[in-house]
Amino acid sequence: MSDLYAVMGNPINHSKSPQIHSAFAEQTGQDLIYSAILVPLEKFKDEADSFFRNGRGLNVTVPFKEDAWQYADTYSSRALRAGAVNTLIKKENGLIHADNTDGVGLVRDITRNHLCSIDGKRVLVLGAGGAVRGILEPLLEEKPTEVVVANRTVSKAEALAQDFANIGKISGCGFDKIDGQFDLVINGTSASLGGELPPIPDTAVHLETVCYDMMYGAGLTVFNQWAQSLNVAATIDGLGMLVEQAAESFSIWRGISPDSKAVIANIRASLNPS
Ligand code: ATR
Repeated sequence: MSDLYAVMGNPINHSKSPQIHSAFAEQTGQDLIYSAILVPLEKFKDEADSFFRNGRGLNVTVPFKEDAWQYADTYSSRALRAGAVNTLIKKENGLIHADNTDGVGLVRDITRNHLCSIDGKRVLVLGAGGAVRGILEPLLEEKPTEVVVANRTVSKAEALAQDFANIGKISGCGFDKIDGQFDLVINGTSASLGGELPPIPDTAVHLETVCYDMMYGAGLTVFNQWAQSLNVAATIDGLGMLVEQAAESFSIWRGISPDSKAVIANIRASLNPS
């Protein structure tokens, strides 16, 4: 019988995870079935209990990443600190182990797919919600000279920076206090969802800056439109991060690393049919 995996979320019908993991399984010859499960709000625990009677691993997406964290028995370091997880695996002893692969997905997309080193760079992160909390440990481990977290609600940026201060140089501020130029700017706000641009000053970027929007869509995101209007060196959207976080989950579950590049290209083509 094929091993069972799934993604749980609400909503879930637009999830690309089944497509991505099926492609990985085919590519690596792994015998598994990966499905998408719509979970009613307040029902995460029941659905996860029921899934893990036979299932091997789960991806978890909005709005259940904190519920999944609560559900787990053991954690990776990055998952423990993130307070939210996107990957669960049932171990042979029956315990549920949790990981958060979002940050590794982001870092791999930047450093491997786009060949942009983070080491020694000055990094600006916009937003201080769950998505940003999930990426800070892997980001700081790349040894940027400094990470500045800017957020509409300043206290959240400050608190977040404090939580990660023992890994590297990091501070939090409001958008109006963004100071100087940055080599890498990452948009982790959900502003793009509503077609809004966070109020970032044009002076924060220079001609060699790389801008990364954790969101993606058919065309350029509003954040990347802004970045291109300032002639920055590169604009990247979050599609590669999505596929890389899936690749890391797949490798945690199956012990084999899939090739993400072909899958990124396929999904990109399906977003922009010619
Ligand atoms: P997620 O899980 O996507 O991180 P979240 O935890 O609700 O979702 O966080 C959303 C982030 O986007 C927050 O940093 C939020 O700013 P506040 O903390 O001040 O709420 C930010 N955000 C959402 N809409 C925004 C907008 N229009 N302009 C700027 N920031 C915005």
